[in-house]
Amino acid sequence: MLPGAPDPPGWRRRWGRQPGPGLWCPSLLLLLAVLLGCIEAQTGPGSGGEPELNVYMSEEEVRRLIGLDAELYYIRNDIINHRALSFNLIIPTETSSLHFSWHSKSKVEYKLGFHVDNPLAMDMPQTNISLQGDVPRSLSVFRVDLFCSGKMETEIMLVMQLNITISSAKNITVLNFKRRKMCYRIDPVNVAPTTSTRVFYISVGVCCAVIFLVAIILAVLHLHSMKRVELDDSMSDSGSSQGLSQPSTQTTQYLRADTPNNATPVTSYPTLRIEKNDLKSVTLQEAKAKVKDIAISRERVTLKDVLQEGTFGRIFHGILVDEKDPSKEKPMFVKTVKDQASEAQITMMLTESCKLRGLHHRNLLPIGHVCIEDGEKPMVLLPFMNWGNLKLFLRQCKLVEANNPQAISQQDLVHMAIQIACGMSYLARREVIHKDLAARNCVIDESLQVKITDNALSRDLFPMDYHCLGDNENRPVRWMSLESLVNKEFSSAGDVWAFGVTLWELMTLGQTPYVDIDPFEMAAYLKDGYRIAQPINCPDELFAVMACCWALDPEERPKFQQLVQCLTEFHSALGAYV
Ligand SMILES: *[C@@H]1O[C@H](CO)[C@@H](O)[C@H](O)[C@H]1NC(C)=O
Ligand SMILES: *[C@@H]1O[C@H](CO)[C@@H](O)[C@H](O)[C@H]1NC(C)=O
Ligand SMILES: *[C@@H]1O[C@H](CO)[C@@H](O)[C@H](O)[C@H]1NC(C)=O
Repeated sequence: MLPGAPDPPGWRRRWGRQPGPGLWCPSLLLLLAVLLGCIEAQTGPGSGGEPELNVYMSEEEVRRLIGLDAELYYIRNDIINHRALSFNLIIPTETSSLHFSWHSKSKVEYKLGFHVDNPLAMDMPQTNISLQGDVPRSLSVFRVDLFCSGKMETEIMLVMQLNITISSAKNITVLNFKRRKMCYRIDPVNVAPTTSTRVFYISVGVCCAVIFLVAIILAVLHLHSMKRVELDDSMSDSGSSQGLSQPSTQTTQYLRADTPNNATPVTSYPTLRIEKNDLKSVTLQEAKAKVKDIAISRERVTLKDVLQEGTFGRIFHGILVDEKDPSKEKPMFVKTVKDQASEAQITMMLTESCKLRGLHHRNLLPIGHVCIEDGEKPMVLLPFMNWGNLKLFLRQCKLVEANNPQAISQQDLVHMAIQIACGMSYLARREVIHKDLAARNCVIDESLQVKITDNALSRDLFPMDYHCLGDNENRPVRWMSLESLVNKEFSSAGDVWAFGVTLWELMTLGQTPYVDIDPFEMAAYLKDGYRIAQPINCPDELFAVMACCWALDPEERPKFQQLVQCLTEFHSALGAYV
């Protein structure tokens, strides 16, 4: 698939009655979407002669850097993999060398150069080969050493430029390998965002101006929110406060069995409990008060690498020291904000982090702790899952897929979908509506265990997945059912819709749905009966499952429990053929 290529054209149909679990929209199968040919964007370094040049990262190196068992080719038999080249790989603080494997059948000259965007923070990279010469004829490895200078804590954009000249032609092929190198110290005192940013060489004048502006904005926002307090108080018991749940409900949640009981009818929970009033305005003080009981001391948290970064938010890999036994450490995700975050953004992070609070299920990842000490940037801690964000993970799989189709199997992907459906089924039974289910709001670990998490900071970290449609609300338009989009009605059936889109994300390894549709046109497009097309390589049965999640009438969509059953059957059928 061309990088950024549009999805295959949408397909049109009116929706029939709700299908039984074994027979998903059978007529759909007749209308399956047009499959597009899938042609890799490829150009060779030269057509004259056949140098048979290969440049790649070995399986061992990919495992070390990305965590997948696969080789990643940048050039395979003279064909350049532009998608791999354009992928901006993150290099954690503790990784200080990169290894590239290469060889060429015939004479190929190269020149190697580096560019570092912040020479103060990182010394010029060193290699153990000369910067100019011939590509070795036998398989060789060269190493690039990256050393943080230690003068500054930041991340550095680094480009390794490899110019290749095939001697039979005069043309030069320029390859740019981009890397994001983290240079953060692993010392808790120095890594606190407040101290680390102090070192930034922003001119004092700019700093003052920004602080002054922020102060004014905060003051205005504060005045605003003061006005809304009374309003909010009267509404705070309206039922959607599940996330900020009271201790009494937490205990009952504990007692509920989370395994689906096949004997009970699947409709035993009210799927169509409709919620309006999506955005509740809470002040920062109120948001902090609601998480006081899970607050811990900042000193117990050590920040390591930045895993994801937006304009004001950040997710770190952090370490939490045990309260009683300081030798015991637990890895955590730490969501926090940068200096320029507004009070409203911080409040939103704290509030949204509480969406799954107090829920216990193996496929949910609720908030663990917070640090809300005065004068420090607030932090939200969640248990660590070592392969990180599911959407980013899928995109990495896509990257290595061309060379290693077996890196992630269809069965693995279906297994992930089942886990998400299990977690959602539990939420539906608890009458919690997620409202923002998507691959970006799930995390994964090395055993391919998937957990659904809240959407705190997602708007900032995945800005392309959210849109404002005229109002001031930034919503995941491409994941929303028609009734949520148009009438702001949220229900489990709306979550089922989003699950269908998430399943599509899984099968496309992290593509953006409806990528060529203007977000403003989405509602009209859905009303007209258009949906996302069947992904290439997605079996008909699986696409039928997705398609049923997108029935216009919420009542016609399957329930999560049915989805679990149906996907489990499909999963074992896949297993039978392997
Ligand atoms: C070199 O580049 C020219 C145009 O820039 C192109 O027409 C030609 O085919 C190239 N030669 C090789 C061997 O790649
Ligand atoms: C590679 O080639 C480009 C264009 O000819 C040139 O600007 C650049 O300096 C070269 N890089 C190296 C490392 O020689
Ligand atoms: C460079 O270093 C790597 C690993 O440290 C080693 O495997 C490789 O053989 C070295 N290459 C050269 C040309 O010395």
